[in-house]
Amino acid sequence: MTDTLILLHTPLGQPGSGRVRYGAAMALWREGAISAEVLEVYRITSAHDARDPMEALRDRGLPLPPLPPERDPVLALYAVARDYLLKLDHAGASEVRAGLPADPGPQHNLARRPNAVVDRWLATALSDLSATLPDLSIAIATAAPQLAWVTYDAYPRDQIGDAFAAGHAFASLMGGDAPFAADDFDLGLFLIAPHVLYRDHCHAAPELYAPLTGPHGWRFGPGRPLITKPAHQPVWNPPHQPHLTRVGAVPFLGLFVWTRDVNEPAQVIPADDWATLEEVASV
Ligand SMILES: [Fe+2]
Repeated sequence: MTDTLILLHTPLGQPGSGRVRYGAAMALWREGAISAEVLEVYRITSAHDARDPMEALRDRGLPLPPLPPERDPVLALYAVARDYLLKLDHAGASEVRAGLPADPGPQHNLARRPNAVVDRWLATALSDLSATLPDLSIAIATAAPQLAWVTYDAYPRDQIGDAFAAGHAFASLMGGDAPFAADDFDLGLFLIAPHVLYRDHCHAAPELYAPLTGPHGWRFGPGRPLITKPAHQPVWNPPHQPHLTRVGAVPFLGLFVWTRDVNEPAQVIPADDWATLEEVASV
């Protein structure tokens, strides 16, 4: 019941939270844990993300449901992200699943690192995600302020371009320098501003992208066609496969997983059409 109570008390105001609370109330009603009158209050308030069902229950003299035990938001995000990733079907699914234990072990408290790209674009991305997966959207929104966000600066700037260099951020959840430790395995969140081209690049690590927003453009080698993929369609990159992402009108938000060789750096692959792709992307 703990997970259901956490959902029942999803913070007010987050997009989709009214529906999440109502879904949890429905589960509790089926278990006989709350009455039909209490469930009706959650139904009425479900259309209003900022309306407090506890206040409505008090006004009607109805009993209040119990509060959930405290749960760490980063652990809660790991659990929801893991559930999501375990269900995805792609060529690397077994490697990804093998690296995602139900219990990720002790949590390391990293210094929080705020980030300008996150401040500017995460809420927009989560608003898009809340239409399809409100639970995951809320878990990310709740955990994001606790994470150590990084705008990666190891690519030579003249190769990767200014737009990507200044327009992305990632945060590790599991890995070598992450809240949950893993040996040669990385899991994290990745955010890119709208209309940014993440130029052709490759790396030794096999990689899963699980895009939570979309549509975005992809290609798998300079000169190859650009393919548009919607949210929730996983992209599996085998080792050294070139890949490029052209972010659409919504910010790119995704989960990424590197299943091994995580310390081998990524390299930009030259192509002669970036200017054209960037021009189109910025329209
Ligand atoms: Fe990659």
